[in-house]
Amino acid sequence: MPAIPSDRVRVAILSDIHYAGTAERARGNDYEMRSIANPLLRAFVRFYRHHIWMREPLTQGEQLEVFLRHIGPVDHVIANGDYSCDSGFVGVCDDAAFQSASECLGRLRTRFGERLQCTMGDHEIGKLTLIGGQGGMRLASWRRATESLGLKPFWQLAVGNYVLLGVTSSLIALPANQPDALPEEWPEWLKLRAAHLAEIRATFDALKPEQRVLLFCHDPTALPFLWREDSVRRRLPQIEQTVIGHLHTKLILWKSRVLSGIPPIRFLGNSVRKFTSALHQAHHWWPFKVRLCPALAGIELLNDGGYYTVDLDPAAKLPAQFTFHPLPRRRK
Ligand SMILES: [Fe+2]
Ligand SMILES: [Fe+2]
Repeated sequence: MPAIPSDRVRVAILSDIHYAGTAERARGNDYEMRSIANPLLRAFVRFYRHHIWMREPLTQGEQLEVFLRHIGPVDHVIANGDYSCDSGFVGVCDDAAFQSASECLGRLRTRFGERLQCTMGDHEIGKLTLIGGQGGMRLASWRRATESLGLKPFWQLAVGNYVLLGVTSSLIALPANQPDALPEEWPEWLKLRAAHLAEIRATFDALKPEQRVLLFCHDPTALPFLWREDSVRRRLPQIEQTVIGHLHTKLILWKSRVLSGIPPIRFLGNSVRKFTSALHQAHHWWPFKVRLCPALAGIELLNDGGYYTVDLDPAAKLPAQFTFHPLPRRRK
């Protein structure tokens, strides 16, 4: 990695580490298949996971060590969400997922200390499985993520005239996630969302005209909801880039551009409804100048993982310079 120019501040960005500790690894790489009763669907998901998405999901976290060996001197590090494999599907209230996320964050904090900022991903709080309909969002996971893991739902970091902001996409996009939540927990989720949006509005309202924003938002499904906020939409010209994760590969971002605006499909289950509803609104992603930071391990088909560094001019006279660092997995 080239040395940091003396007049620049370098920030490293990584996302979707999906680390698995010993308790998650003990569940075996086919943990998701066991939640699918229909043999045909199981065969389809097995094929997709094996050849396209991730053959051995519980070993992808090994890329964290590769990253830690590879990374050179940096001033700040942003981890953009999804720290465990969430193999219990309920987020970090599952002890095994909690152990994974703690180990993952522990390694990053040991190395980078106060220089590290962490965004919350959807897998910290849980989500329904793709096909099996198991699991979902749990308030117990929210409490554990914020209290025991120390994840801040909203963070900001000033670098001269740059303001780096981290938001929680699962709260912002909560209306799209209602089927994932337990009915008795819904009112509390709504309160958390209202407080989060109030914080975001106040921060965008307080921006000075000379400030430039780099926004960190794990799941782009949140962006159309942010777009509906006047405080945010007024400041869109000041958002230089929005760094998302969650999609794991640029292939999905490219497909999202192609399929942007399609009507939501409501009769093929929750996952298809959620995905197509997100695509229906995807034309609101692009004004945020979206840049995908892929999963650290990429996907099986393309082995396209890696991380970014961005060099910032604190005066914000020159645009942020992003560099992608591929980190291909060694095939076993
Ligand atoms: Fe992820
Ligand atoms: Fe995610």
